Amino acid sequence: MGSMQGFAPATPSAHDHYSGKRSLGEPRAIDMVVPCPVRDWTPAVTSDEAAAMRSALERGNVLHFPGLDFPLDVREQRFLDARWSDGKTKNINLRATETRVRGAVGQPADLRDLATLIERYAGAAERLVLALFPDYGPHLKRAGTSLRPAEIAGRPVSWRKDDTRLHVDAFPSNPLHGQRLLRVFHNVDPDAPRVWRIGEPFADFAERFVPKTRGLLPGQSWLMHKLHITKRLRSEYDHRMLQLHDLAKADLVYQRTAPQQTFEFAPGATWVVFSDQALHAAMRGRAMMEQTFYLDPAAVADRTHSPEAVLSRILNRPMLPAQR
Ligand code: SIN
Ligand code: FE
Repeated sequence: MGSMQGFAPATPSAHDHYSGKRSLGEPRAIDMVVPCPVRDWTPAVTSDEAAAMRSALERGNVLHFPGLDFPLDVREQRFLDARWSDGKTKNINLRATETRVRGAVGQPADLRDLATLIERYAGAAERLVLALFPDYGPHLKRAGTSLRPAEIAGRPVSWRKDDTRLHVDAFPSNPLHGQRLLRVFHNVDPDAPRVWRIGEPFADFAERFVPKTRGLLPGQSWLMHKLHITKRLRSEYDHRMLQLHDLAKADLVYQRTAPQQTFEFAPGATWVVFSDQALHAAMRGRAMMEQTFYLDPAAVADRTHSPEAVLSRILNRPMLPAQR
């Protein structure tokens, strides 16, 4: 890997790049994207470089690897087309414990090739994370991998599912109990950039919206589990995170006026982010691959910025039971 020159992680809150002059109604500009000169899925980095990247990541920045390509061979390029999606979900998914893709239509041979491609991406993403953050290794669990071969812009979805609105990731049926969501994204489209908006640091966002959230009612978590609304008991942490997701998406004034930046991830770019922490919105783009990892929060070195710590600080009590 080359030198880390120009590697200047953005610091949340007080130290955002502040564009002094701005006209009324224009959101405050921020810079949450940290460029990293990694060009290999198993990169050799010095411990200083790795520490700088890890600290930027844990503070909620987006690590951007503009030179980290994941080339498709000629036969794989046919999969960059929305016709492979079964229409029910826009994503073609491979679960960590399965060998067959979900959400795709095609001949058995095509579906096998699709699974091979997605599996190859999962392996590359895992090697990257393990090489950059070896301390995460024992606490890291591979979750789903997806190929998203459909244009984002102009999709009709309900506001809650509308990922063109700034949000943090949180799932109604899948309580995570503080497990972190680490995601490795790659723009696999040869021509179109993937255009994201990236929002303010999580603590600033939480200070605005946490007072509007509620705790669980007695018996609510039990009942939701009993009715199979959730896969396991929902913790207060999950309950509040879900409300934060919804409150952000429902607030069009926040969407328009909150501190934010628009960033174009070029074809062939890779980026890594804690998506439960970094506010993000996907505005445009044609084809992306994505790997999700669950990370035990104990592996995070600087936990003061993690959503659980921020929520507990604002509400002045732990969001998770002491024993899990
Ligand atoms: C999201 O995680 O909100 C969507 C990311 C994307 O499709 O680029
Ligand atoms: Fe998201």
